[in-house]
Amino acid sequence: MLGSTKSNVTVGIAVLGGIAGLSYALAAAAAPPGGTAAAVEFTPDGKLKRPVGYRKWVYVGEVVTPNDMNDGEASFPEFHSVYMDPESFAEYEKTGKYRDGTVLVKELSGVGSKKAPSGNGYFQGEFTGLEATIKDSKRFKDEPGNWAYFSFGHKYPLKAEVSKNSVAACNQCHQDHAQKDDWVFSRYYPVLRAAAPRSK
Ligand code: HEC
Repeated sequence: MLGSTKSNVTVGIAVLGGIAGLSYALAAAAAPPGGTAAAVEFTPDGKLKRPVGYRKWVYVGEVVTPNDMNDGEASFPEFHSVYMDPESFAEYEKTGKYRDGTVLVKELSGVGSKKAPSGNGYFQGEFTGLEATIKDSKRFKDEPGNWAYFSFGHKYPLKAEVSKNSVAACNQCHQDHAQKDDWVFSRYYPVLRAAAPRSK
């Protein structure tokens, strides 16, 4: 009698443990909802919330298109600092490919001055804008290459959440002019070139 009570308790504990384990597994499988890009958040109606924490991601390169070399107004003024979410970067080091869920952020800042103790040049001023591109084969299954493009504006205050841009506004130029088949201008990012396995 006593023996059977004990074993019932043991079974009960095992079942409880099993339920806890199962719900944990379900929660892990369910996140993030609707897509694979875990480094960013979306609103329920599919807008991208302005990414946070990206200045601690992997800094992959810097491009400068100063206004004074672009008829007074560059289309993306002026410094472009590009960051990649760390988990996708780790995968890129292994495969040289942009995994599903990759997020690349391009932060814009103005030219602050053109003279410094180091010489004449272009020196970074204030932050001015923010753009992002995300590869997600579930959420963006209808976008070319599964890449969607977002702009939070080119002057502060930036928008808090934005819808994806049209293919014609962003994706098309990337599709036509970036590295073949991957939509990203990898050739301008020395950190990525050095990290890709083929260059080792
Ligand atoms: C006329 C061509 C062109 C258009 C249109 C364009 N881009 Fe780009 N984009 C580039 C080039 C070239 C780069 C490489 C780095 C740089 O110049 O900033 C780039 C880089 C980027 C990056 C960094 C990651 C990468 O893919 O290399 C993001 C993010 C980005 N663009 C977002 C956008 C968004 C958002 C739009 C639409 C509002 C857009 N782009 C429209 C040419 C374009």
